[in-house]
Amino acid sequence: MPGTALTEYETHDYDVLVIGAGGAGMRAAIEASKTGATVGLACKSLLGKAHTVMAEGGMAAAMGNVWDEDNWQVHFRDTMRGGKMLNNWRMAQLHAQEAPERVYELEDWGALFDRTEDGRILQRDFGGHKYARLAHIGDRTGLELIRTLQHHTMHRQVEVHMEVKIVRLLKEGKRVVGAIGYRREQGTFIVLNAKAVILATGGAGKIYKFTSNSWEGTGDGHALALWAGADLIDMEFFQLHPTGMIWPPSARGLLVTEGVRGDGGVLRNSEGKRFMFDYISEFFRAETADTEAEGDRWYDDHVNNRRPPELLPRDEVARAINAEFKAGRGSPHGGVFLDIASRRSAEDIKRRLPSMYHQFKHLAGVDITSEAMEVGPTAHYIMGGIRVDAETQAATVPGLYAVGECSGGMHGANRLGGNSLSDLIVFGRRAGLAAAEYALGLAETPKTWGGQIAPIVAETLAPFGRDTGENPYTLHKELQEVMQSLVGIIRVSSEMQEALDKIADLKERAKNISIEGHVQYNAGWGEATDVAALLDVAECVTRAAYTRTESRGGHTRDDFPATDKTYWGTVNNSLHKVGDDITITQTPLPQMPAELQALFEEVKA
Ligand code: FUM
Repeated sequence: MPGTALTEYETHDYDVLVIGAGGAGMRAAIEASKTGATVGLACKSLLGKAHTVMAEGGMAAAMGNVWDEDNWQVHFRDTMRGGKMLNNWRMAQLHAQEAPERVYELEDWGALFDRTEDGRILQRDFGGHKYARLAHIGDRTGLELIRTLQHHTMHRQVEVHMEVKIVRLLKEGKRVVGAIGYRREQGTFIVLNAKAVILATGGAGKIYKFTSNSWEGTGDGHALALWAGADLIDMEFFQLHPTGMIWPPSARGLLVTEGVRGDGGVLRNSEGKRFMFDYISEFFRAETADTEAEGDRWYDDHVNNRRPPELLPRDEVARAINAEFKAGRGSPHGGVFLDIASRRSAEDIKRRLPSMYHQFKHLAGVDITSEAMEVGPTAHYIMGGIRVDAETQAATVPGLYAVGECSGGMHGANRLGGNSLSDLIVFGRRAGLAAAEYALGLAETPKTWGGQIAPIVAETLAPFGRDTGENPYTLHKELQEVMQSLVGIIRVSSEMQEALDKIADLKERAKNISIEGHVQYNAGWGEATDVAALLDVAECVTRAAYTRTESRGGHTRDDFPATDKTYWGTVNNSLHKVGDDITITQTPLPQMPAELQALFEEVKA
């Protein structure tokens, strides 16, 4: 049994509590602290150890440094079309309008960027973006963003609690009033009272077997919000980044930045063919090159030429890679070939893609300046998430806010690469500001009643009290197998029904998890608390995918291959948990104003 007394826990009071310390969480904490609000920041890993660093290739912002023609309207339009028009239009508009200012702000705070010859921030091409608009530093942009925000956070009055695993949000009536968790190192409980709580916990890639996410991506924020009575939306939309490493097995899923294709890299099958020309959807045909020659001309003239098909949005490229492999034209280890060696000089590759060069050299023994990489789709980003208000990031429960990957709406059915780093700085700022204003308008910090704490502590410690039972690692592994094989890139109703049955069975078994050892730094305990979140998030993804009887963005149905404009193009799936049951309903998409709709008429013309 663990060496901790159930009744003992430390408490802290804040105006604003931020949970999660990737880019979104830190940006929110900075903004909240600027208002004079007291701010606590809790993260289950180390400060800045976040999936943010896996947005390697850059942050999208229509600064027009490379192409004068770029502006927020084009960025907005690209984002909506990439999201297959299911995005919350107001979020996409705010994002496109405010991203440039946020990037310049980062520069003011010390972020380094690659430069144009005349000294402006250089911007690179990425899929689905009409113009080169990703501000970047080599292929380490997420890391630089984290470094900058971390430095800035440390100079503000933000109290940081690292390695704290939050297990539940605390409520007073309908209102969220804080959170409870435990310190992973000591195993002791910690109660964080707060007038407003911002969830910035990132994604849920760990429901899949092959993912670019590291151990933290277990859907904690999605689950905490669901358990606190908030709505999730569009959980069926899971982005498979087209290019993850597939070999060696120990590196499987690791990201190969889209910057490789943005810088001219091409995809080939085992016959050496640039197969993407065979997979141009009607939706993007008018703006995609038909020939290699035209695709190449595009790098010199984006205005009069059309983009190469390797730079279609990620959902389209991932499906094409999958189809090539299924047709028997794949690479030896189950993917396709990504070739930058024949397209750029060795010097250019090492300068623009240094991490990729080292990653392949050291992990796979492949020199990407002379050899092709083997790549395949990897679970990278969940577009679905906590339903939020576009202006404030407020969730549907008072006192709760959500930002970054754990929030939903901004990216619709598919996120364009580079839009996540800009999303988290634009909406991180907005969430921090709105949560602080809300908190400062309230009279006093709510004190959580002890009665609420004891049952949560008892439930969290329960696995230690069972001598025999289920191993949490086994349950997690089985869940990953289920999701990878039955709710993966191509979905069909019979398989999803099977997945729902298996998830229900895993949930039953999870009630009997048993852990050995003590509470100090017990990784098995962490896994046990993760499993509850993983199972609920996996159920939400599967239930929403089962319900949406069409194909769109990061959700492809073999049994419903068409995109249905008349019904599914007009609604979000909305998920809610009452007792043990997760329910799903559809809610109408917010209506886009006429002046924004007109931007899409221009594309058609
Ligand atoms: O490919 C990448 O560098 C990832 C970027 C992103 O997900 O935004």
